[in-house]
Formats: sequence, structure tokens, C-alpha cells
Amino acid sequence: MQLFLDTTDTAVLKDLVTTGLVDGVTTNPTLIAKSGRPMAEVIAEICGLVEGPVSAEVAAMDVEGMLAEGRKLAAIAPNVVVKVPLTRNGLIATREFAVEGIQTNVTLCFSASQALLAAKAGASYISPFIGRLDDHGADGMELISEIRAIYDNYGYDTEILAASIRTPAHVTAAALAGSDCATIPPATFEALFKHPLTDKGLEQFMADWAKTGQSIL
Ligand code: E4P
Repeated sequence: MQLFLDTTDTAVLKDLVTTGLVDGVTTNPTLIAKSGRPMAEVIAEICGLVEGPVSAEVAAMDVEGMLAEGRKLAAIAPNVVVKVPLTRNGLIATREFAVEGIQTNVTLCFSASQALLAAKAGASYISPFIGRLDDHGADGMELISEIRAIYDNYGYDTEILAASIRTPAHVTAAALAGSDCATIPPATFEALFKHPLTDKGLEQFMADWAKTGQSIL
């Protein structure tokens, strides 16, 4: 499973990249606003930090505007993936980007029928928003399973990118449901490493090791 970081915080990204476990990055207009920096500058810096896909979202709502913005974003670096909203116009733009060989991440997906259309439009990635569906009283993970089944039924190669992840349990469930990728906020990514029994067990092992008086080196 590919693990992406959902962030524009390049200091945090630099640190987590050292683990070798970060396969890509996603951003959105809210995260760009949070960075307080010009979008092109942040995206270029992120693309220099990770080799994998870096999603950068268009802001236009019309097809021509999306295409113009997407082409400009794609020109920043070869690993830019143009993020497009799951609207009728967004899917028309997605189809054109596919023809032009520009990678796309279709975002704000909340239903399996939307995901089906995105795959037909030639999306590289589909981003179902798990946490926001759960917040809304629905079962976000059920949506991942439905999309997996539909894509497998028809052999679509659009990758499922579980988004709006809030907890390590979301990551596990997305992996079990067959999601190709998950995009994870940095704090949740850090939490993936941890378990209280790991800490407790290690504390005991180190205490017992100290009693031996030995050194491995
Ligand atoms: C990813 O592409 C999305 O921008 C992100 O996962 C949204 O997460 P949120 O619902 O926590 O804002």
C-alpha cells in the first residue's frame, strides 16, 4: 500500500521522508492557505522532497479554467498530479488531461457512482473522503469496498486513494478493503508507528538487558 502525507508543512515532510515510508504527498486549497505561502513555491519544494506523486488542486470551476490551471501546475515538476473536483466539469477536464498524459487525482468523492464516472473519465487516482463520510453518519470504509469491487469488476486501473483519514484504524481498514493508497495527516502518520505494548515491552527488555551488563558491540 502506498502511503502519502496530506500536508503542506515542508519541515514535517522533510522529517517524515527520512523514514523511507512516504510514497507521495497530497495538498488541497485549505492546506495551501494554511502554509501561508504561494502555491507554486510550496508545490515545487514538496516535489523536490519526494519522488512520488504530489497532488496540487485546481481552483477553477469551469473546464477551460481547470485545464489552464492544471497544465500550469503540471509544468511545475514531472511528479505533479493535478487534483480536480468530482464535478461534471471536473470529469470533462479529467478526460482531457488523460489525453494529454497529465496525471489526475479526482477529489471530493463521496459515492461509488461518482468513482465509477471518474474511472471512465480516465482518472489516475480517485479520492474517497472517509472521515468526512463518517462525520456525516455514513460508513466511509464501505465506500472503499464498493469502489474496489467496481474497479475490479471492469479492470479500471484508477488507483483508490483513501482520503480524509483521521486515525490509524482508518489506515488499517482502508488497507483491508483493498485501497491502493491512503493519504494521511502527519500526526496520524506518526501514530501508525506507536502501540503502548511496544513501549511497555521495550522498557522491560531494556531494563533486563541493562542487568546483564553486556554490550553487543
Ligand atoms: C486529501 O486529498 C484531502 O485533501 C484530505 O484528505 C481531506 O482531509 P480532511 O477531511 O481531514 O480535510
